Amino acid sequence: MNMPLHPDKPTCTFNLTAQPLTTTIAGQQAEVLTYNGSFPGPLLEVQEGDVVTVNFINKLNEPSNLHLHGIFMAPEVDKPHQVVKPGQSLSYTFEAQPGSAGMYWYHPHAHRKVTRQLFEGLSGPIIIRGAVDAMEPIASATEKVLVLHDITLQNGKVAPHKGMDWGKGKEGELVLVNDEQQPVFSVPTGLLRLRIVNASSARYYNLQVSGKKLQVIGMDGGFLEAPVALDALLLTPGERADLLVEVTQAEELQLLNLPYKRTPVGPSTDTPEEGLLLAKFTVTGHPKAVSLPPKLVEVPPLDLATATGRKTITFGASMQPLQFTINGKLFDQHRTDLTAKVDTLEVWDIVNPMMMDHPFHLHTFPFQVVSINGVSAPFRAWKDVVNVPANSTVRIAIPFTTFKGSVMYHCHILEHEDLGMMGNLQVT
Ligand code: C2O
Ligand code: CU
Ligand code: CU
Repeated sequence: MNMPLHPDKPTCTFNLTAQPLTTTIAGQQAEVLTYNGSFPGPLLEVQEGDVVTVNFINKLNEPSNLHLHGIFMAPEVDKPHQVVKPGQSLSYTFEAQPGSAGMYWYHPHAHRKVTRQLFEGLSGPIIIRGAVDAMEPIASATEKVLVLHDITLQNGKVAPHKGMDWGKGKEGELVLVNDEQQPVFSVPTGLLRLRIVNASSARYYNLQVSGKKLQVIGMDGGFLEAPVALDALLLTPGERADLLVEVTQAEELQLLNLPYKRTPVGPSTDTPEEGLLLAKFTVTGHPKAVSLPPKLVEVPPLDLATATGRKTITFGASMQPLQFTINGKLFDQHRTDLTAKVDTLEVWDIVNPMMMDHPFHLHTFPFQVVSINGVSAPFRAWKDVVNVPANSTVRIAIPFTTFKGSVMYHCHILEHEDLGMMGNLQVT
């Protein structure tokens, strides 16, 4: 389960030790990978303005490291190229920037080892809190942090990847919410706030709460300007959602994963038509009137006319051996693929000519989605992962502010990342 740590402020220090653990998952005993013996890893909770140090200790029998996904921090602190040998440790210190309140997460980033280490259990949630969290009616909402992670167990271990799994991305047979299959949460009537991380290596979730609208108040590392009501929300690997559900009376709610085909060809999804039950909420208490916050934050529109750089990122793949590419190239950590200037705005077209969706992720610098196949994005938000559907182009706008250095961008289907679908951007 998620155990919040209670650090002293304004300097917070967390220790995260990657280590194997034999535990029981969905009634089966298996050896998985954990941070601090917790599966998923402990919730790290800080406030805007806090100076945060995360000490990573590697007690695995292979190299690993830690990436604090989505947090606006200097590239030399993120340093995902640097790996930590077994028995060694590495620290990451950053200031939780004002305005960065939101949901983040951590996971390994040692190239070619990310998929397996994450699939076997290494990930955990991070929350940065700010003024909006203290504002009514959000402050008194019942909050649940849900880490979605799928896994397949076999003979007391996590099942290995097979050839095909590397192409499509492996979807585990057990779909877990925190460490449990179909957990039941007891919650009171009133506003329910669900903060969801897709910590799966490849599985997409098309989320719905039975009979309710999802009131989206945040995505990835930030709030929206105002709640946006949706029937269902697609959450790709690496994305996070901050949702309010209006629960006015005692009832039972189901969090469902509806079918979504991330590739129109090949084997279809294992999700039943009516949806797969992820978790239940048993609501008790007296009927209660609820209201939504009318306004959350400003998400200033970006003036694309001021953009000084334009780039095209094109996804690709080759067979035999199976490899994934960006702009025709396999990842090479010693090569700079793209450059940008600090204090400029750039517009990037992410082009996916393939028959399969790919979630695009950029480190350090949050971006806004401008359009999908020329159609304007449905709402303005600061994002760090965006789905690029099969045969589609997504246009994003990225203000490069504050930090210089080398940052990575990649597909967040981790099999694809490990097989080369990643590049380096040098901001100077
Ligand atoms: Cu969540 Cu470069 O990763
Ligand atoms: Cu990241
Ligand atoms: Cu991909």
